[in-house]
Amino acid sequence: MRHLLSIEDLDRPAIERIVAQAGRFAEVSDREIKKVPALRGRMVLNLFYEASTRTRSSFELAAKRLSADVVNFAASGSSVEKGESLKDTVLTLSAHKPDAIVLRTPWAGASELVSGWCSAAIVNAGDGKHEHPTQALLDVYTLRERFGKIDGASIWIVGDVAHSRVARSNILAFQRMGANVTVAGPPTLIPRAIEELGCQVRYTLDELHGADVVYALRMQRERMSETWVPSLREYAAWYQINGRRLTPNQVLMHPGPVNRGVELSGEVVDSPQAVITAQVEAGVVVRMAVLYELLAGAREPRALSGEIAADQRATGDHRPTAEQRATGDHRPAADQRAAAEQRATGDHRPTADVASVSGASPVVGGPLT
Ligand code: NCD
Repeated sequence: MRHLLSIEDLDRPAIERIVAQAGRFAEVSDREIKKVPALRGRMVLNLFYEASTRTRSSFELAAKRLSADVVNFAASGSSVEKGESLKDTVLTLSAHKPDAIVLRTPWAGASELVSGWCSAAIVNAGDGKHEHPTQALLDVYTLRERFGKIDGASIWIVGDVAHSRVARSNILAFQRMGANVTVAGPPTLIPRAIEELGCQVRYTLDELHGADVVYALRMQRERMSETWVPSLREYAAWYQINGRRLTPNQVLMHPGPVNRGVELSGEVVDSPQAVITAQVEAGVVVRMAVLYELLAGAREPRALSGEIAADQRATGDHRPTAEQRATGDHRPAADQRAAAEQRATGDHRPTADVASVSGASPVVGGPLT
């Protein structure tokens, strides 16, 4: 995989691979020192032309947990305000030689354009109304954690489908994972011919009780040029997911940010059926998996655990692992981790691992420091 521009580019095995890799990274997030050296020396540039809380912070955290260097660029407060174009901004920042650019813009197709202007791997973090592939991947991950599998699940995506990049990516991803997807909302907010993506369409919530998962969308007024519903009050009366409409066994999802009292009532946001914070948590590990897949390749995932080093010692196999090839650090994986932790904590005594594995003197930094 060279870029991640759209869920359309991913078949089911590719989605499964990223989700499985995210599962392995979940273990890193539970450690006291939440870091692995997989992308040490690589640079990730976060280029955000739109407001973002979850997506931006989780991409930053994901890159940092993989030990990449991160540069955050927000269009507001930059030369974009002086009239610099997207192309010139990308070319300017490309002078720093980023390995990956994470891009969010209000323009559909911008990520694809940028992928033709520079050599970095491009990750689409939302392009206008078009797609938001990492959101769909983290939603697949969240549902897999909850149900084990998605095959045969009935998922209703409710609300402003017309202005939602999340809806488009999620319809594709959920279906690829075997779910039956229904989109529901006011006729003005359901794009014509959306059925061609393979989903069903409903204009009322009368059959919502048949859903296993209810996925609510925000009214994306910043992407609207006209008024599409009489009022938010009227919208809420017909389409709000609340305690009356959500049945006790249904799982409630939302990509955030939530407008409490509009698409969701406060009580359902705070109910145990809502997995909204689990979605945010999944965002970090899934984005780690995406960056790892793009920059280190999807090879030998066990290189991230101590198992490889143990295997190598047991079998006498001293070939470098994928990670070692990527970082140029050819010490056994356990030694690398110990050295990384020592560098991170400032503790320069030999770790048990280093002392027992190599009988070495204290590791003060590795060859790359
Ligand atoms: C979404 C987005 O920006 O597309 N949010 C997100 O990335 N978590 C959905 C939205 O803005 O409503």
